[in-house]
Parts: sequence; structure tokens; C-alpha cells
Amino acid sequence: MKIGIIGSGNVGGTLGVRFAGAGHTVVFASRRPESAEMVELAARAGNGARAATAAETVAESDVILLATPWPATREILEGVGSLAGKVLIDATNPLLPMLAGLEYGTTTSGAEQVEAWAPGARVVKAFNTIGFNVMANPSFGGAKAVLFYCGDDAAAKAQVGELASAIGFDARDAGPLTQARLLEPFALMWISLALQHGYGRGIGFQLLERGGE
Ligand SMILES: NC(=O)c1ccc[n+]([C@@H]2O[C@H](COP(=O)([O-])OP(=O)(O)OC[C@H]3O[C@@H](n4cnc5c(N)ncnc54)[C@H](OP(=O)(O)O)[C@@H]3O)[C@@H](O)[C@H]2O)c1
Repeated sequence: MKIGIIGSGNVGGTLGVRFAGAGHTVVFASRRPESAEMVELAARAGNGARAATAAETVAESDVILLATPWPATREILEGVGSLAGKVLIDATNPLLPMLAGLEYGTTTSGAEQVEAWAPGARVVKAFNTIGFNVMANPSFGGAKAVLFYCGDDAAAKAQVGELASAIGFDARDAGPLTQARLLEPFALMWISLALQHGYGRGIGFQLLERGGE
């Protein structure tokens, strides 16, 4: 896949490196694509990865990972050119300042806002419920961290599920895009446990299942 990263920071940088390592062609968007930091990131990712402007990144990618700070997300999406037909993986969380909560709750979601700001994009919510350190390594001893994703386009979701599995997650389809109304508050669970209630960043979640019930 040709994967563009919009928001090449903690999440975008980590996942871009992992996607390149899984054999994909990655372009990292930046406001300063020529900076030493971006050149180093692209070199670290390897497999022909490079840095570019956001508009160039969108134009040459089939799959876009959106990992921008929430307050900048609308302006960024509206300034990158058409996203129609592209798979848009929304890893953002509509966090309030100081991690005080979410701008949207259980009756709508940031992902549904993203869909409205990127007309025609095939939005899949994913990679928002765990920290970037877990994206770097989703393995917990013998167990894989679960990664829920949701969206309304079955083919787009299948691509995202493959990407997440390829980098080591137990990838699980959580249903339609409206399920982001639950996946975004679920992110707060990870954030609060990791950063506010003493568990630290080395935590992930697992889905346990048994048949017949
Ligand atoms: N951190 C986590 O563990 C984690 C986990 C799950 C989800 N998330 C969500 O993922 C998103 C990104 O988080 P992050 O921690 O990766 O953020 P980050 O490290 O701050 O990276 C965001 C990147 O966005 C780019 N950007 C473009 N326009 C910007 C603007 N106007 N203002 C600020 N940055 C701009 C910056 O790159 P350039 O300067 O190169 O343009 C920056 O590196 C957030 O919505 C967050 O809630 C974070």
C-alpha cells in the first residue's frame, strides 16, 4: 500500500515506521518536510519512505493515517486537497485541554466530524485506544494487545485490519463508524490509567472470548 501520514509525531511517526517495516511505501507529511527531524524519520522508516507536504502526501497515497492534534484537525483536513475515495484512518482523539475529557461524547464522535470535514473519504477509526509506545510494540509476553477499529466501508476496514494485524495487533472489527462514539471514550480509559492512575504507559487491553454463549 502507499500510505501517507498526516501528523508525523508520536503516533504518526511510530506507525509510519512500523508500516514501512511491514513493506509499505510511506510518505510522512510535515509543515517542514526538509527538516533534519523529518529526514531522520524517513531514513529510519526505510523502504523508500520520504517526507513531503501534506498536499503531496495525500495526492500520492491510497491510505492516509490521520494523527494530528485535535484542535488543528479540521483546518489540516480542509487544506490538503481532495480525500475522496481514499481510506482515511482516524487515530485522533477529540481531547479537551489538560486531558479533561472529550469534545464529543456518546451521541456523536470526532470520527464523524472527520468524515464531514473530508468529503468522500472512507473513514476508519483505529489506533486511537492505546499509546504510541504500544503501537511500537503490541506484544505483552505471549499476548497481543487488542486493536478495535470501526467504519462503514467494508473494504477500507479490511485494509486497516490487515495493517494492524501485520504490525502485531489482535485487530478486531468493532462495527460501523458510529462505534467511534465508544472507541473515543475508551481511549480515555487507557490515558487515565496510564497517565493519571499509576499504571504507566506499558499497558494494553485484551479481548477474551469463549464460544457457545
Ligand atoms: N500520543 C499517543 O500515545 C496517542 C495515542 C492514540 C491517539 N493519539 C491521538 O493522535 C493524535 C496525535 O497525537 P501525537 O501524540 O502523535 O501528537 P504529536 O506528537 O504532537 O504529533 C502531531 C503532529 O501533527 C503535526 N501538525 C500539523 N499541523 C499541526 C498544527 N497546526 N499544530 C500542531 N501540530 C501539527 C506536527 O508535525 P509537523 O510539525 O511536522 O507538521 C506534529 O508532529 C492526537 O489526536 C492524539 O489524541 C495519541
